[in-house]
Amino acid sequence: MDPMQRFRKECTAFFDQLSPEGRSSLVFGDGQSDRPVLMLIGEAPGEQETLQGRPFVGKAGKNLTAFLEVVGLDRQDLYVSNVVKVRPTKRSASGGIVNRPPNREEKLLFTPWLMREIAIVRPDGLVTLGNVALQAFMEETVGNVHGKWQRTVVSPPEGEAFTLPLFPLYHPASVIYNRSLADIYQADLIALRDSLTAGLNLKNDT
Ligand code: URA
Repeated sequence: MDPMQRFRKECTAFFDQLSPEGRSSLVFGDGQSDRPVLMLIGEAPGEQETLQGRPFVGKAGKNLTAFLEVVGLDRQDLYVSNVVKVRPTKRSASGGIVNRPPNREEKLLFTPWLMREIAIVRPDGLVTLGNVALQAFMEETVGNVHGKWQRTVVSPPEGEAFTLPLFPLYHPASVIYNRSLADIYQADLIALRDSLTAGLNLKNDT
């Protein structure tokens, strides 16, 4: 079994054991899982992601595609994942099941798994989408650090810690609901694209 298969198996077993209803529907990352140039990290899967078993599909997937077009990258060349790998839900006032942001406990439980996932994928750089993903790495808000390369330490529960460059972006969904962020988001994407096309050596030159 390769390290990614083992990771998925162990992560599934861990969360199945915690889930009172039995098996949890985990949504793992997809794309290029062997040293891609970038690993994109979102918040948590929604309904479509859970149904299709892939991150960023449906409406969120359309946003991601638009994002990738600006940056000039193909989704297949990247690895795309989330901090929390199970859909956080609540009951709406009308009794339906709707998404909610992941809570503190969920974030704490999933973060070591995310670190382990990054250690397997070994991307050249990370792109966080929104505050939940950013705060898995640093006590910052996206409003303060978006669009500028940062450096973070990735500490998997086993194995050695290592550093990676990290580019914080607003979450693509927050841009839809807040048009005033759209221009900032676009400028950040262009900055990311320029740093990639300039041949920025993500490993040494950030
Ligand atoms: N879909 C995902 O997979 N992640 C998000 O953060 C939002 C939608």
